[in-house]
Amino acid sequence: MVKKMTIAIDGPSGSGKSTLGKALAQRLGLLYIDSGAVYRAIACKVIDSGASMEDRPAIIDAARKGNISLEGPPDRLTVLLDGRDVTQRIRLPDATSASSIVAAIPEVRDAVVEKLRRMSDAGAVVMDGRDIGTRVFPDARVKLFLDASLEARARRRSQEESERGRLVAIEEVEREIAERDSRDTGRAATPLVMASDAILIDTTELTVEALLEHALEIVERHG
Ligand code: DC
Repeated sequence: MVKKMTIAIDGPSGSGKSTLGKALAQRLGLLYIDSGAVYRAIACKVIDSGASMEDRPAIIDAARKGNISLEGPPDRLTVLLDGRDVTQRIRLPDATSASSIVAAIPEVRDAVVEKLRRMSDAGAVVMDGRDIGTRVFPDARVKLFLDASLEARARRRSQEESERGRLVAIEEVEREIAERDSRDTGRAATPLVMASDAILIDTTELTVEALLEHALEIVERHG
């Protein structure tokens, strides 16, 4: 039996993972799974229940009991939490900040890894996140690790925010990203690190088209 295609994309915030993940999924006809959306949905469940971000048992409970699904094509992905559409909600600043707090808890990560593996049971996938090549799919056929300068990542995030109608000073975005970077790379439970067999792509100077072409060449070589 031919092993099914799994493409793992890891890297810090704003490095271009979701843009590349969606484009690859569309081009190759694969399922796209945004693993960060799952951590974000858990953060929303905790916030909306009124529990504190210091209440570990409540956070672990939300991660285990939350029914989270991703539906629709890659460019119009809908995130459902307990049957509620939280696609926009999970991108608000409180959820963004809380997501890296919930993601540092080992029991939350265990529950999410299980959900992610279940979501990908259906077929070949492109999944992006922080631990996809190291923990969720250590046997992925292709592992990409994207990175870019903090300035370029903040510029992209600030552009995305303005497209959503929120104007945020670039310095503020830079501060917020640096804070999440340090939580994501500094935590004890599967921190953000590049898998030893991942291919590093620096996206600082790359257009989306150039990034997609480069990634497609790599995928073809591993086909
Ligand atoms: O990619 P994102 O910004 O939507 O991710 C939200 C948070 O979840 C981010 O702080 C890192 C964390 N995360 C993680 O720890 N592991 C993943 N596989 C995906 C996201």
